[in-house]
Parts: sequence; structure tokens; C-alpha cells
Amino acid sequence: MTDVALKHVAIIMDGNGRWANARGKLRYEGHYVGVQRVRDIAIHASAKGVKYLTLYAFSTENWKRPQDEVDYIMSLPKIFFSSYLKELMENDIKVVMLGETERIPKVAREIFIDAIDKTKENKGMVLAFAVNYGARDEIMHACKCYAEMVKNGAENDIDEDLFNGLLYTKNMPDVDLLIRTSGEKRISNFLLWQIAYSELVFTDTLWPDFTKEEFDKCIEEYKGRHRRFGGLDENSSN
Ligand code: FPP
Repeated sequence: MTDVALKHVAIIMDGNGRWANARGKLRYEGHYVGVQRVRDIAIHASAKGVKYLTLYAFSTENWKRPQDEVDYIMSLPKIFFSSYLKELMENDIKVVMLGETERIPKVAREIFIDAIDKTKENKGMVLAFAVNYGARDEIMHACKCYAEMVKNGAENDIDEDLFNGLLYTKNMPDVDLLIRTSGEKRISNFLLWQIAYSELVFTDTLWPDFTKEEFDKCIEEYKGRHRRFGGLDENSSN
């Protein structure tokens, strides 16, 4: 079943608004179709043997959007899980959440908590939703945790492993492949620590048009890359 040698794929799902505008629709209709793509790509990635799929659903900066749009995006978890939780279970997918959860409206937060609880024993792909997530916020949060630990008597000997363990992604491996849809070539405060050695693939396709085949194309591009993690090729002479 596994046909990709990559563990962790992260996606910046961008372009819902432009997809809707191009069709004379309202922005929320782009988000609605985007939810169907979340389902398709999660099931597909899991079937391909991806172990972790992290999706940027709502950033710490997205609160700046009009309140109507924020409210609609916060209703997406209900739409998603009421339609697809059964399929996630059938595919042994485990749901987790990354980000600062306190600010997420109670209804949306409880829907996530319920999905996390119902899927917690699943052993297949981890589907991580980054909601109210910002990498700078995550790093600051980790620093504050560490400062607290030292204040409470822990030895001051931080290293990368220890720091990793204080991030929202603490039980996850580094990102192998980061995909951003919609033609924008930015990272937008997503997983800054975890993408230090990731391969980046940018596609012009807007998220609501991002099919399984598009996902496979990104995987093919990844496979064609040569990862050296700062080292040299084995047979490199200089
Ligand atoms: C970016 O497109 C998209 C978002 C901010 C929301 C993404 C969320 C989903 C696709 C669904 C999440 C699903 C769950 C279950 C929470 P944009 O609005 O910035 O598009 P634009 O750049 O074209 O305006």
C-alpha cells in the first residue's frame, strides 16, 4: 500500500476565495468546496501510506478577516466531521489539532475535541489540523514553557530534542514535503521550525481544485528532489 518514502506532508490550503470569485460565487462557497478537498486528500494520503498530514486551516493572522468569514470558517469543523468522521474511522485516521485552542469558539473547539477523542485509538495516518496556529506563537509558547521549567528547578541544558518536545507538533516528525496551493510562494508563519529541511512544492492550482491527481504530482516532484540535509552526496568529490 505504501508507495511514498515520505512520512509527513504539510499543506497550506490557499485559494478558496479566488476560486469562488472566479465563479461569481461568495468566498464562503470556496471554503465549503475546500472542505470536500480536505476529505479527498486526507483519505488519499492515508491510502498512499503518508503517516502525518498537517493542514493549515486557520492562522493566528486569519482573525483579521471580516467577522462573517471568520464565523463561517469556524463552522467548517462541524460540516467536515458530521460528513466525514465515519470515513476517517473506517480509514483508521487519527485526528489531532495544532495551535492555541483557547481562542477557538467553544462550538468548533468541542467538535474538534470530540473528533480527537473518537479517533484517539486509531493507528493509521495522523491528520493534524492547524487551527489558530502560528509558528511564531508556537515558538514563543515553547520558550515560555522552557523558562517555566527552569524557574521550577530544571537544569538549563536545552537542546533541539528538548525544544522539539515543547512544540505543538511534539509527537510528530519534521515535515518532508510542504505544499502550497494557489500560486503564492510564501510560508505565512506555518511550521517554521519543522520545515528546516523540507522540500517545498508550490502549485498554481487553487485549493478547491486540488485533486488526488494534483497531490500525486506534488509527490512525484518531491521524489525527483535530492535531499542532502546540508551534507554532501556520497560520491561527491568536493
Ligand atoms: C485560504 O484561502 C483558506 C483558508 C483560510 C481556510 C482553509 C480552510 C479549509 C479549506 C477547510 C478547513 C477544514 C476544517 C475541517 C477546519 P483564502 O480564503 O485565503 O483564499 P484566497 O487567498 O483566494 O482569498
